[in-house]
Amino acid sequence: MTVDHPAIKAKEFSHLFSDEALKRKPSPIKTTMAYFQDPSVVFLGAGMPPGELFPLKTLSMEVPKPPFKNGIADSEETMKATIMRNQDELLFASDVPIARALQYGNSRGQKELLEFLKEHTRRFHRIPYEDWDIITTTGSTQGWDASLRIFCNKGDTVLLEGYTYSSSVEAADAQGLNCIPMPMDDNGIMPAKLEDMLENWGSRYPQIPMPKLLYTIPTGQNPTGCTLSDDRKPYIYHLAQKYDMIIIEDEPYYFLQMDKYTPPEQRSTTSPMNHHQFMNSLCRSFLELDVDGRVVRLDSVSKTFAPGCRFGWLVGSKHLLDNYWNLHEVSIQSTCGFAQTILNGLLNRWGQDGYIDWLIGLRHQYTLKRNCCLDICRQYLPWEICTLPAPVAGMFFMILIDATKHPEFHTTFESNCDLLEQHLYNKCVSAGVLVACGSWFRVPDPVPSPKSATAKSNIVTFRGTYAAVCPEKMKLGIQKFGDTLRREFNLS
Ligand SMILES: Cc1ncc(COP(=O)(O)O)c(C=O)c1O
Repeated sequence: MTVDHPAIKAKEFSHLFSDEALKRKPSPIKTTMAYFQDPSVVFLGAGMPPGELFPLKTLSMEVPKPPFKNGIADSEETMKATIMRNQDELLFASDVPIARALQYGNSRGQKELLEFLKEHTRRFHRIPYEDWDIITTTGSTQGWDASLRIFCNKGDTVLLEGYTYSSSVEAADAQGLNCIPMPMDDNGIMPAKLEDMLENWGSRYPQIPMPKLLYTIPTGQNPTGCTLSDDRKPYIYHLAQKYDMIIIEDEPYYFLQMDKYTPPEQRSTTSPMNHHQFMNSLCRSFLELDVDGRVVRLDSVSKTFAPGCRFGWLVGSKHLLDNYWNLHEVSIQSTCGFAQTILNGLLNRWGQDGYIDWLIGLRHQYTLKRNCCLDICRQYLPWEICTLPAPVAGMFFMILIDATKHPEFHTTFESNCDLLEQHLYNKCVSAGVLVACGSWFRVPDPVPSPKSATAKSNIVTFRGTYAAVCPEKMKLGIQKFGDTLRREFNLS
């Protein structure tokens, strides 16, 4: 589905840029790269090692072949591909030749791959303004780090979900930024509470500047597993407009969306979705609400292919992305050439439809994993003290435990959830199961109050994942976890 863009242009946001971003100029030598591909220009301008001395003549791979009739996990049908060193040797027209892939000078990304990703973005998101673009990253972690450097000076403020990906907080914290938790529930950020917080900012956080960035993991949130409901997004976007914030949506789990969990006795076998059903089943991106050009979306192949690719991309207004480009030229220079030529070779051979087949297959695999995990949890967790909001996306689930039901909560643990959490964590590790402590992902509120986003009183939380283990190990792990809780809470 291709969508025509109305002729709206993105707004200027230079007033939100950091001093560093405002100071950074495009490198003059990099502006010459446009001439590198031009056969009429003898290019003596940049210090590039000669491609014929790169010690690789070809790169070959064997990959599963769409439409993955037997699923993506044990796809027997494969296709072979060989990528050649030079343009004139290519066996497949949209390949990126090795000599170009491994050369300097493509900080935005290889054009064939950018074209594929732009078309992919067009298929999945109706962006309301015209001048949007994409630029490659070395993954969302780097995309977030770059965002902090582009928009924030030391002492600036960013909003994050009350529980969030710990690396994102660590990156912001280390840059001397104020990290403020947003109130959230099982459906993600709570917009009315966020509005209340922003309206009363001066009295609540008198020493802290108003936020510049709103960072969110809308789909299959890490660590809670929750998904921000689509009907909250316009309200949140409106707040970003009213308080002039940039929204950074970090979406590594976007394509790990699933059907709602139903217990095995009510579960019917469903046939795989077709493309139309799949595309309609997905959450909407903030990009689709973005009439201003104030949203930057972080996409990554870490969960759709493999994290070691260290490859992702940003979607946003050209005006904003030019700043990322300037930063990349003096930091990462470009995304790894191997990753780009291999991913480009794979994606272009599959085509847009083949890639969607892959994503549908992924959805199926994650649904099986999530179902298996929750079926086991139903059987082995002590439900008299636990709750577990069933995730509809991502790879995480969070178990919430009523601390007040622990016999020593008010005595030995001084009514302190973190002390009890640490104790339970140690007991679980000794019993041979490791779950992550919820507090590791909590964004501490610098001005805690009863209304605080993270003041979940008397609840101890643990994060688990269903991504990494086989059903047998999952059963063993959850059994051990359940047994430990029963022992510790004196349950039969
Ligand atoms: C929310 C979130 N963002 C980013 C990442 C890392 O992404 P990447 O591998 O693309 O850097 C993760 C986890 O691995 C994550 O949970």
